[in-house]
Amino acid sequence: MEICVLGTGYVGLVTGTCFSESGHFVHCVDIDTVKVKELNAGKLPFYEPGLDELVARNLNQKRLTFTTDSPSAIGQSKIIFIAVGTPQDSHGNADLKYVFQAAKTIGEYLTDATTIVIKSTVPVGTHQKVTDLIRKHSKHPFEVVSNPEFLKEGNAVEDFLKPERVVIGTQNAKTVELMKELYEPFVRSGNPIIVTDNTSAELAKYACNAFLATKISFINEMANLAEKVGANISDIRKAMTTDSRIGTKFLYPGTGYGGSCFPKDIQALMATAKHHDYPLKIVEAVETVNQEQKEILFQKAHRYFKGHLQGKCAAIWGLSFKPNTDDLRQAPSISVIRKLLDHGVKTTVYDPVAMLNASAIFEDRIQFGKTSYDCLKNADMLFVLTEWNEFRKPDFQKIKSLMKTPVILDGRNIFNPSQVVQFGFYYEGIGLK
Ligand SMILES: NC(=O)c1ccc[n+]([C@@H]2O[C@H](COP(=O)([O-])OP(=O)(O)OC[C@H]3O[C@@H](n4cnc5c(N)ncnc54)[C@H](O)[C@@H]3O)[C@@H](O)[C@H]2O)c1
Repeated sequence: MEICVLGTGYVGLVTGTCFSESGHFVHCVDIDTVKVKELNAGKLPFYEPGLDELVARNLNQKRLTFTTDSPSAIGQSKIIFIAVGTPQDSHGNADLKYVFQAAKTIGEYLTDATTIVIKSTVPVGTHQKVTDLIRKHSKHPFEVVSNPEFLKEGNAVEDFLKPERVVIGTQNAKTVELMKELYEPFVRSGNPIIVTDNTSAELAKYACNAFLATKISFINEMANLAEKVGANISDIRKAMTTDSRIGTKFLYPGTGYGGSCFPKDIQALMATAKHHDYPLKIVEAVETVNQEQKEILFQKAHRYFKGHLQGKCAAIWGLSFKPNTDDLRQAPSISVIRKLLDHGVKTTVYDPVAMLNASAIFEDRIQFGKTSYDCLKNADMLFVLTEWNEFRKPDFQKIKSLMKTPVILDGRNIFNPSQVVQFGFYYEGIGLK
Protein backbone atom coordinates (compact mmCIF):
# COMPACT_ATOMS: atom_id res chain seq x y z
CA MET A 1 0.00 0.00 0.00
CA GLU A 2 1.20 3.56 -0.62
CA ILE A 3 1.00 5.72 2.46
CA CYS A 4 1.69 9.41 3.00
CA VAL A 5 2.64 10.81 6.41
CA LEU A 6 2.51 14.58 6.85
CA GLY A 7 5.02 15.66 9.51
CA THR A 8 8.35 14.01 10.30
CA GLY A 9 8.52 14.79 14.02
CA TYR A 10 8.66 12.09 16.70
CA VAL A 11 5.27 10.72 15.75
CA GLY A 12 5.34 11.13 11.97
CA LEU A 13 8.84 9.76 11.52
CA VAL A 14 8.23 6.74 13.74
CA THR A 15 4.83 6.09 12.12
CA GLY A 16 6.16 6.33 8.57
CA THR A 17 9.26 4.28 9.31
CA CYS A 18 7.37 1.50 11.09
CA PHE A 19 4.79 1.21 8.32
CA SER A 20 7.60 0.96 5.76
CA GLU A 21 9.20 -1.70 7.97
CA SER A 22 6.02 -3.77 7.56
CA GLY A 23 6.34 -3.60 3.77
CA HIS A 24 4.39 -0.51 2.75
CA PHE A 25 5.72 2.30 0.56
CA VAL A 26 5.72 5.43 2.65
CA HIS A 27 6.15 9.04 1.57
CA CYS A 28 7.09 11.14 4.58
CA VAL A 29 6.39 14.79 3.91
CA ASP A 30 7.61 17.79 5.86
CA ILE A 31 7.54 21.52 5.18
CA ASP A 32 10.99 21.84 6.75
CA THR A 33 13.38 21.54 3.79
CA VAL A 34 16.49 21.19 5.95
CA LYS A 35 14.93 18.32 7.89
CA VAL A 36 13.93 16.54 4.68
CA LYS A 37 17.38 16.95 3.19
CA GLU A 38 19.02 15.56 6.31
CA LEU A 39 16.57 12.68 6.55
CA ASN A 40 17.31 11.71 2.96
CA ALA A 41 20.97 11.60 3.98
CA GLY A 42 20.01 9.26 6.84
CA LYS A 43 20.44 11.94 9.55
CA LEU A 44 17.69 11.96 12.16
CA PRO A 45 16.39 15.28 13.56
CA PHE A 46 16.26 13.91 17.13
CA TYR A 47 17.60 11.09 19.27
CA GLU A 48 15.38 8.03 19.49
CA PRO A 49 16.83 4.58 20.26
CA GLY A 50 16.68 2.12 17.35
CA LEU A 51 15.09 4.52 14.88
CA ASP A 52 18.23 5.32 12.86
CA GLU A 53 18.69 1.66 11.91
CA LEU A 54 15.10 1.31 10.73
CA VAL A 55 15.22 4.55 8.75
CA ALA A 56 18.49 3.52 7.08
CA ARG A 57 17.19 0.06 6.18
CA ASN A 58 13.92 1.28 4.69
CA LEU A 59 15.54 4.18 2.86
CA ASN A 60 17.93 1.68 1.39
CA GLN A 61 15.09 -0.64 0.35
CA LYS A 62 13.34 2.40 -1.19
CA ARG A 63 10.19 1.76 0.84
CA LEU A 64 10.70 5.04 2.66
CA THR A 65 11.13 8.44 1.05
CA PHE A 66 11.35 11.93 2.48
CA THR A 67 10.04 14.84 0.50
CA THR A 68 8.62 18.35 0.62
CA ASP A 69 6.52 17.55 -2.44
CA SER A 70 3.13 17.09 -0.78
CA PRO A 71 1.05 17.18 -4.02
CA SER A 72 2.85 14.17 -5.41
CA ALA A 73 2.93 12.23 -2.11
CA ILE A 74 -0.76 12.93 -1.42
CA GLY A 75 -1.79 12.12 -4.97
CA GLN A 76 -0.13 8.70 -4.92
CA SER A 77 -1.33 7.51 -1.51
CA LYS A 78 -4.31 5.46 -0.43
CA ILE A 79 -3.94 6.47 3.21
CA ILE A 80 -2.72 9.86 4.44
CA PHE A 81 -1.64 10.41 8.03
CA ILE A 82 -1.67 13.86 9.61
CA ALA A 83 1.14 13.80 12.20
CA VAL A 84 1.97 17.48 12.49
CA GLY A 85 2.50 19.35 15.76
CA THR A 86 -0.38 20.66 17.88
CA PRO A 87 1.44 23.05 20.23
CA GLN A 88 -0.20 25.13 22.91
CA ASP A 89 -1.44 28.59 21.94
CA SER A 90 -1.25 31.63 24.24
CA HIS A 91 -4.66 30.76 25.77
CA GLY A 92 -3.78 27.14 26.56
CA ASN A 93 -5.77 25.73 23.61
CA ALA A 94 -4.25 23.31 21.15
CA ASP A 95 -3.06 25.39 18.22
CA LEU A 96 -4.47 23.61 15.18
CA LYS A 97 -2.92 25.76 12.47
CA TYR A 98 -0.59 22.99 11.28
CA VAL A 99 -3.41 20.44 11.24
CA PHE A 100 -5.67 22.76 9.26
CA GLN A 101 -2.88 23.65 6.85
CA ALA A 102 -2.24 19.94 6.31
CA ALA A 103 -5.98 19.32 5.78
CA LYS A 104 -6.18 22.12 3.23
CA THR A 105 -3.17 20.73 1.35
CA ILE A 106 -4.73 17.26 1.37
CA GLY A 107 -7.98 18.67 0.01
CA GLU A 108 -6.15 20.48 -2.78
CA TYR A 109 -4.17 17.47 -3.97
CA LEU A 110 -6.41 14.42 -3.45
CA THR A 111 -6.71 12.46 -6.67
CA ASP A 112 -8.85 9.52 -5.62
CA ALA A 113 -10.89 8.01 -2.78
CA THR A 114 -8.59 8.26 0.23
CA THR A 115 -8.53 7.60 3.95
CA ILE A 116 -7.24 10.51 6.03
CA VAL A 117 -5.96 9.54 9.47
CA ILE A 118 -5.51 12.13 12.23
CA LYS A 119 -2.58 10.91 14.33
CA SER A 120 -1.82 14.23 15.96
CA THR A 121 -3.34 14.79 19.40
CA VAL A 122 -6.33 17.01 18.69
CA PRO A 123 -9.27 18.31 20.73
CA VAL A 124 -12.69 16.76 20.35
CA GLY A 125 -14.44 17.89 17.23
CA THR A 126 -11.29 18.40 15.18
CA HIS A 127 -12.16 15.46 12.90
CA GLN A 128 -15.29 17.35 11.81
CA LYS A 129 -13.33 20.55 11.12
CA VAL A 130 -10.75 18.58 9.13
CA THR A 131 -13.56 16.87 7.19
CA ASP A 132 -15.19 20.22 6.38
CA LEU A 133 -11.89 21.73 5.29
CA ILE A 134 -10.98 18.87 2.97
CA ARG A 135 -14.49 18.79 1.54
CA LYS A 136 -14.21 22.50 0.78
CA HIS A 137 -11.18 21.82 -1.42
CA SER A 138 -11.90 18.40 -2.92
CA LYS A 139 -14.59 16.61 -4.87
CA HIS A 140 -13.07 13.16 -4.25
CA PRO A 141 -14.60 10.84 -1.67
CA PHE A 142 -12.64 10.47 1.56
CA GLU A 143 -13.07 9.34 5.15
CA VAL A 144 -11.44 10.94 8.22
CA VAL A 145 -10.30 8.53 10.95
CA SER A 146 -9.15 9.57 14.43
CA ASN A 147 -6.24 7.36 15.40
CA PRO A 148 -4.38 8.94 18.34
CA GLU A 149 -0.81 7.87 18.99
CA PHE A 150 0.35 6.57 22.38
CA LEU A 151 4.09 6.08 21.77
CA LYS A 152 6.55 7.29 24.40
CA GLU A 153 9.66 9.21 23.40
CA GLY A 154 12.68 7.13 24.32
CA ASN A 155 10.78 3.91 23.55
CA ALA A 156 8.90 5.08 20.48
CA VAL A 157 9.87 2.35 18.01
CA GLU A 158 9.05 -0.49 20.40
CA ASP A 159 5.79 1.21 21.37
CA PHE A 160 4.77 1.60 17.74
CA LEU A 161 5.74 -1.89 16.68
CA LYS A 162 4.11 -3.48 19.74
CA PRO A 163 1.34 -1.12 20.85
CA GLU A 164 -0.60 -2.02 23.99
CA ARG A 165 -3.67 -0.97 22.02
CA VAL A 166 -4.62 0.82 18.84
CA VAL A 167 -7.56 3.21 18.96
CA ILE A 168 -9.50 3.72 15.75
CA GLY A 169 -12.23 6.31 15.66
CA THR A 170 -14.58 6.01 12.68
CA GLN A 171 -18.06 4.76 12.01
CA ASN A 172 -17.28 3.57 8.51
CA ALA A 173 -17.02 -0.24 8.44
CA LYS A 174 -14.81 -0.32 5.32
CA THR A 175 -12.38 2.13 6.92
CA VAL A 176 -12.25 -0.01 10.05
CA GLU A 177 -11.21 -3.00 7.91
CA LEU A 178 -8.52 -0.96 6.16
CA MET A 179 -7.11 0.32 9.45
CA LYS A 180 -7.16 -3.16 10.96
CA GLU A 181 -5.25 -4.48 7.96
CA LEU A 182 -2.67 -1.74 8.40
CA TYR A 183 -2.12 -2.39 12.11
CA GLU A 184 -2.45 -6.18 11.93
CA PRO A 185 1.35 -6.83 11.86
CA PHE A 186 1.76 -4.90 15.12
CA VAL A 187 -0.94 -6.59 17.19
CA ARG A 188 -0.16 -10.20 16.43
CA SER A 189 0.36 -10.91 20.13
CA GLY A 190 -3.31 -10.20 20.69
CA ASN A 191 -3.30 -6.61 21.91
CA PRO A 192 -6.63 -4.97 21.12
CA ILE A 193 -7.68 -2.68 18.33
CA ILE A 194 -10.34 -0.55 19.94
CA VAL A 195 -12.90 0.70 17.45
CA THR A 196 -14.99 3.66 18.47
CA ASP A 197 -16.37 6.91 17.10
CA ASN A 198 -14.10 9.85 16.24
CA THR A 199 -15.03 11.96 19.26
CA SER A 200 -14.35 9.18 21.76
CA ALA A 201 -11.02 8.43 20.08
CA GLU A 202 -10.03 12.09 20.32
CA LEU A 203 -10.98 12.33 23.99
CA ALA A 204 -9.40 8.95 24.85
CA LYS A 205 -5.93 10.33 24.13
CA TYR A 206 -6.42 13.31 26.45
CA ALA A 207 -7.98 11.10 29.13
CA CYS A 208 -4.90 8.83 29.10
CA ASN A 209 -2.42 11.68 29.35
CA ALA A 210 -4.42 13.47 32.03
CA PHE A 211 -4.64 10.29 34.09
CA LEU A 212 -0.90 9.62 33.81
CA ALA A 213 -0.16 13.21 34.80
CA THR A 214 -2.53 12.78 37.74
CA LYS A 215 -0.50 9.81 38.99
CA ILE A 216 2.67 11.89 38.84
CA SER A 217 1.21 14.89 40.63
CA PHE A 218 -0.41 12.62 43.20
CA ILE A 219 2.83 10.90 44.16
CA ASN A 220 4.64 14.25 44.20
CA GLU A 221 2.05 15.68 46.55
CA MET A 222 2.40 12.64 48.83
CA ALA A 223 6.19 13.00 48.69
CA ASN A 224 5.99 16.62 49.78
CA LEU A 225 3.67 15.69 52.64
CA ALA A 226 5.98 12.81 53.59
CA GLU A 227 8.82 15.30 54.01
CA LYS A 228 6.72 17.48 56.25
CA VAL A 229 5.60 14.65 58.55
CA GLY A 230 8.91 12.78 58.57
CA ALA A 231 7.80 9.81 56.46
CA ASN A 232 9.59 8.13 53.58
CA ILE A 233 7.96 8.21 50.14
CA SER A 234 10.00 5.20 48.95
CA ASP A 235 8.29 2.98 51.50
CA ILE A 236 4.92 4.61 50.92
CA ARG A 237 5.39 4.03 47.22
CA LYS A 238 6.08 0.34 47.82
CA ALA A 239 2.97 0.05 49.97
CA MET A 240 0.95 1.66 47.22
CA THR A 241 2.37 -0.10 44.19
CA THR A 242 2.04 -3.61 45.62
CA ASP A 243 -1.71 -3.04 45.44
CA SER A 244 -2.64 -4.33 42.01
CA ARG A 245 -5.56 -1.90 41.88
CA ILE A 246 -3.07 0.97 41.99
CA GLY A 247 -0.39 -0.47 39.71
CA THR A 248 3.34 0.15 39.64
CA LYS A 249 3.89 2.66 36.87
CA PHE A 250 4.05 6.44 36.84
CA LEU A 251 4.29 6.64 40.61
CA TYR A 252 7.83 7.94 40.99
CA PRO A 253 8.25 11.20 42.87
CA GLY A 254 10.35 13.77 41.08
CA THR A 255 10.60 17.31 39.85
CA GLY A 256 7.34 17.33 37.92
CA TYR A 257 6.31 16.13 34.50
CA GLY A 258 7.53 17.81 31.34
CA GLY A 259 7.90 16.90 27.69
CA SER A 260 6.08 17.88 24.56
CA CYS A 261 2.80 16.18 25.48
CA PHE A 262 1.58 16.19 29.09
CA PRO A 263 1.86 19.94 29.78
CA LYS A 264 0.18 21.04 26.56
CA ASP A 265 -2.38 18.23 26.49
CA ILE A 266 -3.45 18.97 30.06
CA GLN A 267 -3.90 22.63 29.14
CA ALA A 268 -5.83 21.72 25.99
CA LEU A 269 -8.10 19.34 27.90
CA MET A 270 -8.84 22.01 30.50
CA ALA A 271 -9.61 24.47 27.70
CA THR A 272 -12.01 22.00 26.05
CA ALA A 273 -13.74 21.35 29.37
CA LYS A 274 -14.13 25.07 30.10
CA HIS A 275 -15.50 25.57 26.62
CA HIS A 276 -18.19 23.03 27.50
CA ASP A 277 -18.80 24.80 30.80
CA TYR A 278 -17.44 21.89 32.82
CA PRO A 279 -14.10 22.89 34.40
CA LEU A 280 -12.07 19.82 35.37
CA LYS A 281 -11.26 20.25 39.06
CA ILE A 282 -8.91 17.26 39.37
CA VAL A 283 -6.98 18.08 36.21
CA GLU A 284 -6.59 21.73 37.23
CA ALA A 285 -5.12 20.64 40.57
CA VAL A 286 -2.76 18.24 38.76
CA GLU A 287 -1.39 21.12 36.74
CA THR A 288 -1.02 23.42 39.78
CA VAL A 289 0.86 20.73 41.73
CA ASN A 290 3.15 20.18 38.76
CA GLN A 291 4.03 23.86 38.38
CA GLU A 292 4.99 23.98 42.06
CA GLN A 293 6.93 20.73 41.83
CA LYS A 294 9.23 22.13 39.17
CA GLU A 295 10.44 24.64 41.79
CA ILE A 296 10.99 22.14 44.60
CA LEU A 297 14.63 21.29 44.00
CA PHE A 298 15.67 24.90 43.57
CA GLN A 299 13.93 25.73 46.84
CA LYS A 300 15.94 23.01 48.58
CA ALA A 301 19.15 24.64 47.35
CA HIS A 302 17.89 28.08 48.35
CA ARG A 303 17.13 26.79 51.84
CA TYR A 304 20.44 24.98 52.23
CA PHE A 305 22.47 28.07 51.30
CA LYS A 306 20.11 30.31 53.31
CA GLY A 307 19.34 32.35 50.22
CA HIS A 308 23.03 33.13 49.52
CA LEU A 309 23.24 31.65 46.06
CA GLN A 310 24.89 34.54 44.24
CA GLY A 311 28.33 33.46 42.98
CA LYS A 312 27.82 29.78 43.78
CA CYS A 313 28.41 27.06 41.17
CA ALA A 314 25.86 24.40 40.29
CA ALA A 315 26.37 21.18 38.36
CA ILE A 316 23.40 19.65 36.58
CA TRP A 317 23.19 15.98 35.66
CA GLY A 318 20.45 15.41 33.12
CA LEU A 319 18.56 17.90 30.98
CA SER A 320 16.01 15.93 28.97
CA PHE A 321 12.55 15.56 30.51
CA LYS A 322 13.19 11.83 30.79
CA PRO A 323 15.99 9.40 29.82
CA ASN A 324 16.56 8.15 26.26
CA THR A 325 15.46 11.32 24.56
CA ASP A 326 17.03 14.68 23.77
CA ASP A 327 13.65 16.41 24.03
CA LEU A 328 13.81 19.44 26.32
CA ARG A 329 10.32 20.74 25.74
CA GLN A 330 8.90 21.78 29.15
CA ALA A 331 11.65 19.82 30.91
CA PRO A 332 11.97 20.57 34.64
CA SER A 333 15.70 21.19 34.02
CA ILE A 334 14.81 24.37 32.16
CA SER A 335 12.90 25.77 35.15
CA VAL A 336 15.73 24.86 37.54
CA ILE A 337 18.44 26.36 35.32
CA ARG A 338 16.45 29.58 34.79
CA LYS A 339 16.04 29.95 38.57
CA LEU A 340 19.73 29.32 39.17
CA LEU A 341 20.77 31.87 36.55
CA ASP A 342 18.31 34.43 37.94
CA HIS A 343 20.02 34.01 41.32
CA GLY A 344 23.52 34.47 39.94
CA VAL A 345 24.55 30.81 40.11
CA LYS A 346 27.18 29.71 37.59
CA THR A 347 25.67 26.60 36.02
CA THR A 348 27.47 23.75 34.28
CA VAL A 349 25.44 20.95 32.76
CA TYR A 350 25.92 17.46 31.43
CA ASP A 351 23.48 15.25 29.54
CA PRO A 352 24.41 12.30 27.30
CA VAL A 353 22.31 13.54 24.35
CA ALA A 354 20.44 16.78 25.10
CA MET A 355 23.26 19.34 25.35
CA LEU A 356 22.91 20.57 21.78
CA ASN A 357 19.27 21.40 22.39
CA ALA A 358 20.17 23.10 25.68
CA SER A 359 22.77 25.27 23.98
CA ALA A 360 20.06 26.48 21.59
CA ILE A 361 18.05 27.68 24.60
CA PHE A 362 20.72 28.98 26.99
CA GLU A 363 23.53 29.77 24.52
CA ASP A 364 26.61 30.93 26.48
CA ARG A 365 24.73 31.57 29.74
CA ILE A 366 25.57 28.04 30.91
CA GLN A 367 28.67 25.86 30.59
CA PHE A 368 28.73 22.33 29.22
CA GLY A 369 30.70 19.45 30.71
CA LYS A 370 32.29 16.87 28.42
CA THR A 371 31.51 14.18 30.98
CA SER A 372 29.33 14.02 34.07
CA TYR A 373 32.41 14.48 36.27
CA ASP A 374 33.69 17.35 34.17
CA CYS A 375 30.91 19.64 35.31
CA LEU A 376 31.51 18.97 39.01
CA LYS A 377 34.78 20.90 39.31
CA ASN A 378 34.36 23.48 42.12
CA ALA A 379 30.59 22.93 42.20
CA ASP A 380 28.70 23.83 45.36
CA MET A 381 25.72 21.67 44.53
CA LEU A 382 24.85 18.82 42.20
CA PHE A 383 21.32 18.60 40.85
CA VAL A 384 20.21 15.25 39.41
CA LEU A 385 17.35 16.04 37.05
CA THR A 386 17.11 13.07 34.67
CA GLU A 387 17.49 9.44 35.70
CA TRP A 388 19.88 8.41 32.93
CA ASN A 389 21.34 4.97 33.77
CA GLU A 390 24.89 6.28 33.62
CA PHE A 391 24.18 8.47 36.70
CA ARG A 392 22.92 5.64 38.88
CA LYS A 393 26.18 4.20 40.22
CA PRO A 394 28.71 7.02 40.21
CA ASP A 395 32.07 7.19 41.98
CA PHE A 396 31.02 9.22 45.03
CA GLN A 397 34.63 9.53 46.20
CA LYS A 398 35.50 11.19 42.93
CA ILE A 399 32.43 13.43 43.05
CA LYS A 400 33.40 14.58 46.54
CA SER A 401 36.96 15.30 45.53
CA LEU A 402 35.81 17.46 42.62
CA MET A 403 33.09 19.46 44.34
CA LYS A 404 33.76 22.52 46.47
CA THR A 405 30.72 21.91 48.68
CA PRO A 406 29.40 18.33 48.87
CA VAL A 407 25.69 18.93 48.32
CA ILE A 408 23.57 16.55 46.24
CA LEU A 409 19.98 17.39 45.38
CA ASP A 410 18.55 14.31 43.77
CA GLY A 411 15.39 15.13 41.86
CA ARG A 412 14.87 11.51 40.82
CA ASN A 413 15.74 9.63 44.02
CA ILE A 414 18.30 7.54 42.14
CA PHE A 415 20.86 7.36 44.94
CA ASN A 416 20.80 5.45 48.19
CA PRO A 417 20.54 8.26 50.77
CA SER A 418 22.45 6.52 53.58
CA GLN A 419 25.28 5.56 51.22
CA VAL A 420 25.60 9.12 49.93
CA VAL A 421 25.60 10.53 53.45
CA GLN A 422 28.34 8.07 54.44
CA PHE A 423 30.54 9.62 51.79
CA GLY A 424 30.12 12.94 53.59
CA PHE A 425 27.54 14.60 51.37
CA TYR A 426 24.57 16.68 52.36
CA TYR A 427 21.81 14.83 50.48
CA GLU A 428 18.20 15.58 49.72
CA GLY A 429 15.91 13.65 47.47
CA ILE A 430 12.17 14.06 46.99
CA GLY A 431 9.96 12.97 49.87
CA LEU A 432 12.70 11.19 51.76
CA LYS A 433 13.22 11.14 55.52
N1 LIG B 1 6.14 13.43 20.78
C1 LIG B 1 5.42 12.49 21.37
O1 LIG B 1 5.91 11.73 22.22
C2 LIG B 1 3.97 12.29 21.00
C3 LIG B 1 3.31 11.12 21.41
C4 LIG B 1 1.98 10.95 21.06
C5 LIG B 1 1.32 11.94 20.34
N2 LIG B 1 1.98 13.08 19.99
C6 LIG B 1 1.25 14.09 19.19
O2 LIG B 1 1.62 13.91 17.82
C7 LIG B 1 1.67 15.19 17.17
C8 LIG B 1 3.03 15.41 16.57
O3 LIG B 1 3.96 15.49 17.63
P1 LIG B 1 5.54 15.47 17.36
O4 LIG B 1 6.19 15.44 18.70
O5 LIG B 1 5.85 14.44 16.36
O6 LIG B 1 5.70 16.93 16.70
P2 LIG B 1 7.02 17.64 16.17
O7 LIG B 1 6.86 19.07 16.50
O8 LIG B 1 8.21 16.88 16.62
O9 LIG B 1 6.92 17.47 14.57
C9 LIG B 1 5.92 18.02 13.79
C10 LIG B 1 6.46 18.10 12.35
O10 LIG B 1 5.39 18.47 11.49
C11 LIG B 1 5.93 19.30 10.45
N3 LIG B 1 4.84 20.01 9.78
C12 LIG B 1 4.12 21.07 10.19
N4 LIG B 1 3.18 21.38 9.28
C13 LIG B 1 3.30 20.50 8.26
C14 LIG B 1 2.60 20.30 7.03
N5 LIG B 1 1.58 21.07 6.67
N6 LIG B 1 3.00 19.30 6.24
C15 LIG B 1 4.03 18.51 6.57
N7 LIG B 1 4.73 18.65 7.74
C16 LIG B 1 4.36 19.62 8.56
C17 LIG B 1 6.92 20.17 11.21
O11 LIG B 1 7.85 20.78 10.33
C18 LIG B 1 7.55 19.13 12.14
O12 LIG B 1 8.67 18.52 11.56
C19 LIG B 1 1.27 16.21 18.22
O13 LIG B 1 -0.11 16.42 18.15
C20 LIG B 1 1.60 15.52 19.53
O14 LIG B 1 0.84 15.98 20.60
C21 LIG B 1 3.30 13.26 20.27
